[in-house]
Amino acid sequence: MNHFLDIHKTDPADLRRIIDTALSVKQARAGKPKGALDADQPLKDHMVALIFEKPSTRTRVSFDVGVRQMGGQSMVLSGTDMQLGHGETIADTARVLSRYVDMIMMRTFEEDTLLEMAEYATVPVINGLTDRTHPCQIMADILTFEEHNGPIKGKKVVWAGDGNNVFASFAHAAKQFEFDLVFSGPQPLDPEEALDGLYTTERNPREAVEGADLVVTDTWVSMHDPQSARERRHNQLRGYQVNKDLMDHAKPDALFMHCLPAHREDEATSEVMDGPNSVIFDEAENRLHAQKAVMRWCLEG
Ligand code: CP
Ligand code: NVA
Repeated sequence: MNHFLDIHKTDPADLRRIIDTALSVKQARAGKPKGALDADQPLKDHMVALIFEKPSTRTRVSFDVGVRQMGGQSMVLSGTDMQLGHGETIADTARVLSRYVDMIMMRTFEEDTLLEMAEYATVPVINGLTDRTHPCQIMADILTFEEHNGPIKGKKVVWAGDGNNVFASFAHAAKQFEFDLVFSGPQPLDPEEALDGLYTTERNPREAVEGADLVVTDTWVSMHDPQSARERRHNQLRGYQVNKDLMDHAKPDALFMHCLPAHREDEATSEVMDGPNSVIFDEAENRLHAQKAVMRWCLEG
């Protein structure tokens, strides 16, 4: 049984296989209606629990649709409606759920909650975002990059903004997929120390994006950040907005990515988000294909 908990915890050869599978399952469905079943049905007779302790549009819908396309059944569960962590321990919930379902996808706050679920579950557990990482997003982003601009190995990826959970998964991916990652943001919002050595820092965003093949940003205030930090963060991050002027300093064919949801005119302008280099909606679509490949890999184990 394979858990998909983080990119740095997954073997590079497996990560490559997941991306290749994602591309082939995507191509096999080309032109079919969204509700059409895949030719093979790897989740036939399988039940998948999708647990959300935070809001979600993309993760929720793409996992639900992906399970159904692969012939399985899904149930979307809200953390607040469950006994999760307050009525009983995570370990007990994990053992109980494992008696009912064949796979668990979880979006939560503390990473420890996910790890405890994985430790005690006897079915695969998938990380649908924690305060620390968002690996499924980055698998979709790698797929998206390679569809547009070829192999990501050796390419230059620049992150402008907050050193948050999505950045952390990019940093893990930089090592596993062998690309160069530059962080450009204010020192108080630097990534956590555990990621040191996986990326370089350039405080000046214009210099950072010089020669970039991909420019990425994310919201300035994440779901786990206190709303009281909003104004301070906006002041700290304003100079790192991805706008046309910044994109003009990157390579002419540099892609622009944002995992969404976005706050238009804050971390990125609509001119960039809707511009010719933006692949934000391909990223969103590729969540579906990448996660289907992740779920196949989890079952293989
Ligand atoms: N990018 C992403 O995970 O979006 P949701 O929060 O809508 O799931
Ligand atoms: N960094 C964001 C990503 C949302 C998909 C958050 O954690 O809120």
